[in-house]
Amino acid sequence: MPTYNIIVNGISQSIEVASDTPLLWVLRDHLNLVGTKFGCGIAQCGACTVHIGGNAVRSCSLPISSLDGKEITTIEGLSENGDHPVQLAWKELDVPQCGYCQAGQIMTATAFLNNNPNPDETEIKSAMHGNICRCAAYTRIHKAVALAAS
Ligand code: FES
Repeated sequence: MPTYNIIVNGISQSIEVASDTPLLWVLRDHLNLVGTKFGCGIAQCGACTVHIGGNAVRSCSLPISSLDGKEITTIEGLSENGDHPVQLAWKELDVPQCGYCQAGQIMTATAFLNNNPNPDETEIKSAMHGNICRCAAYTRIHKAVALAAS
């Protein structure tokens, strides 16, 4: 099997894996970074969202062969102690219900706020629209994004 070199949360990793292996399974099965979740596997729910070069991407649909040399950040690498402003806003507003989608929600929100630090409500709803929450905690999610931006 080929070997791919990626940088995950600032650490260089060499992964020997089939070329069509999705990044999600490299993270979870090879690097034990299980904060990134599997939801749909077809880039529709957002549970698997990570950052590549600061942009939010869906790791379930990215083959490792397309990522050689890329810098990837997962929820585990977002902050040292869970104290990124978005994570603090999430805690303050007690956003999660079951919690399953929350890593993906937070990774989408952080990438969005990096590009748009002062969004209005419409922009927040639009940015978060593609991240599905099966508990429908959307009101708290949107409020937390606004709080993190303030
Ligand atoms: Fe990747 Fe749903 S698991 S978008």
